[in-house]
Amino acid sequence: MDVSDLVDTTTGRQKRTIYSNEELYKQELERIFGRCWLFLVHTSQIPKAGDYFRTFMGEDDVIVIRQKDGSIKAFLNSCTHRGNRICRADRGNAKAFTCNYHGWSFAPDGSLAGVPLENEAYFGELDRSKLGLVQVTHVAEYKGLVFGCFDPDAPSLEDYLGDAKFFLDVWLDAMPGGTSLLGETQKMELGSNWKLPVENVCGDGYHLGWAHAGAMSAVQSMDLAGLSVGNSSTNLEGGLSVAGMNGHMALTSLDGISGYAFYPEPKPMMDYLEANRPTAIERLGKVRGEQLWGSQINITIFPNLQFLPGLNWFRVYHPKGPGKLEQWTWAMVENDMPDEMQAAILDNQCLTFGLAGLFDNDDGDNLAACTEQSRGWRTAQMDVFTNMALGRSGPRDGFPGDIAAGLVSEHNQRYFYRRWQEHMQAESWAEVPTYNINSLSVEEPENA
Ligand code: FES
Ligand SMILES: [Fe+2]
Repeated sequence: MDVSDLVDTTTGRQKRTIYSNEELYKQELERIFGRCWLFLVHTSQIPKAGDYFRTFMGEDDVIVIRQKDGSIKAFLNSCTHRGNRICRADRGNAKAFTCNYHGWSFAPDGSLAGVPLENEAYFGELDRSKLGLVQVTHVAEYKGLVFGCFDPDAPSLEDYLGDAKFFLDVWLDAMPGGTSLLGETQKMELGSNWKLPVENVCGDGYHLGWAHAGAMSAVQSMDLAGLSVGNSSTNLEGGLSVAGMNGHMALTSLDGISGYAFYPEPKPMMDYLEANRPTAIERLGKVRGEQLWGSQINITIFPNLQFLPGLNWFRVYHPKGPGKLEQWTWAMVENDMPDEMQAAILDNQCLTFGLAGLFDNDDGDNLAACTEQSRGWRTAQMDVFTNMALGRSGPRDGFPGDIAAGLVSEHNQRYFYRRWQEHMQAESWAEVPTYNINSLSVEEPENA
């Protein structure tokens, strides 16, 4: 389906049908979720051989499993006999997966290990070597984050991430101990198209002070740099909206502390930042060590991974049809953080985002209603707009990307829809453009 008229990033306009049309949704499963690198698991979630984690790539149910040699493989969770699900648990450790239907069993490397009545019923004629689990074409890791990709022609994960690594490293590589995701997966179903929460988090600073006014007043001292309703000193200048990195985006307050300053007891957080700032500067360079590490940063890896150093949630969205999704959330921590700080982060994440999160409840209601109002015969023909601060972006010393000043603009959303359109129009990866705008301005660490 031609989508050239459905998104216009030069004027900042989308047709609402992109949130409700079944045919477009099937095209997204093929051209976006079937083509892009998708987050599968954090290495901390499957530390030992045989540890597995079940997730989704688009609507495909996938088992990710640590092999004996330490490598990680991913397989479709579907029996090669008649298609049944072979793994029903969310995570665990397995020596084999045995199908409930007729008892075929598969080894952790995906090979077909056992077939009941193999000689008697199949007369020894079954070629087991051709009936192993279907393997996800590419699996690769970037500093603890494991991604998978179905498309044999996809660029490498490093190339796919491009300049977004500049921001990813602020979380993944500032401290020598690495990172972890805490606890079990917090799963929430939402009656929303999958693109709406992604565009909300990737760039929508506009809604913070209005949609979250109640939540912000309930979470003491969190007024997000003057964005809250009724604050007469509203400051729209602080922070950056960064896009133009192969469809990935960042939104950041750029002050080095605001990620933790709003905690009910911020002192231990501030002490941690102060004590470790020299390490962060040594590892990341001055710009990132001083201005980004410790800041609030919303990082989006196209199409469906988002995480927020500062509020410390980490999330993936799994589409379940044009009007439905599952969002999976974890708290994320640096392993060097003291235990009490990790516990405070998990508490705060549960209070703000996740199943009972005050902020997620605000967003969920708005996003579900926006989806619902794109389903009607007449409403589906209407436009929605992402035209704020059009044409007001450019380079900034020390940073990659095409950058708009401030947290309140629709700059990042336009790049998100641009990338969506590029993938939806392309027949293959060969037709998908690569762009890492202003890449040369990336600052190298001082000791590099
Ligand atoms: S469907 Fe799995 S053994 Fe038959
Ligand atoms: Fe929100």
